[in-house]
Amino acid sequence: MRPIMVAGNWKMNGLHADAQHLTQAILDAALAPTVPEVVLFPPFTLIASVAALARGSSLRWGGQNLFWENHGPYTGEISGPMLRDHGCRYVLVGHSERRQIFQESDEIVFRKVMAALHAGLTPVVCVGESEQERESGQTWEVLERQMTAILPALGANGQQANLIIAYEPIWAIGTGKTASPAQAQEAHAYLRSLVARKNPALAQKVLILYGGSVKANNAGALFAEEDIDGGLVGGASLQAGEFVQICRVAEQIGRGG
Ligand code: PGA
Repeated sequence: MRPIMVAGNWKMNGLHADAQHLTQAILDAALAPTVPEVVLFPPFTLIASVAALARGSSLRWGGQNLFWENHGPYTGEISGPMLRDHGCRYVLVGHSERRQIFQESDEIVFRKVMAALHAGLTPVVCVGESEQERESGQTWEVLERQMTAILPALGANGQQANLIIAYEPIWAIGTGKTASPAQAQEAHAYLRSLVARKNPALAQKVLILYGGSVKANNAGALFAEEDIDGGLVGGASLQAGEFVQICRVAEQIGRGG
């Protein structure tokens, strides 16, 4: 049985005081160790604020993006070793906002996945179709294309296991239009089958998170699905009470690591 993970993607939100408040609220909730990973993805400027409070606890944190080089003349960029230096274990790669607004191609996403792995970070790679792609019946094609681009990161035989996938249908992000548990399960099972083509044993182990308008009142039905291993939470992760409730839902489902 795979463990459940709950991740909070703060996007470009928050100041130091907000980071302290949110982090402290999660620490105060004293979640049971049956929820093995709760991970916060603050903006770069708030990583140190989160780390200062969370260090030594079971709460983890990561970056929302990274560049594929380790250092050099890349004004405005942040590298994997820099994130590691701040205690990050995870990094988001290929979020749809980066793919759409910052024109990150599948090739760029792959380079970033490799950079993350080389830096000792676990990439949480986001994939997902747009509304138009879903309506025109292209969902599986889009997911296959996005997955085919990153699967080489799993090594020749798929032995490299420290990669997490987040299925985030773009039409569900920040819209309040959550995918139904059945819709999400169908996509997750498909994504897992794509990993299985490379390595069936790894496909059983790899965590696949669902993202897109996850709230406390829909998390239970989503996380109960066989192939949904937790959530990547955007808007609701900025409300301490709501986010803690989502973690409690995961705790009750209790798929410990
Ligand atoms: P949302 O965002 O929960 O606000 O829909 C999810 C995400 O973009 O990771």
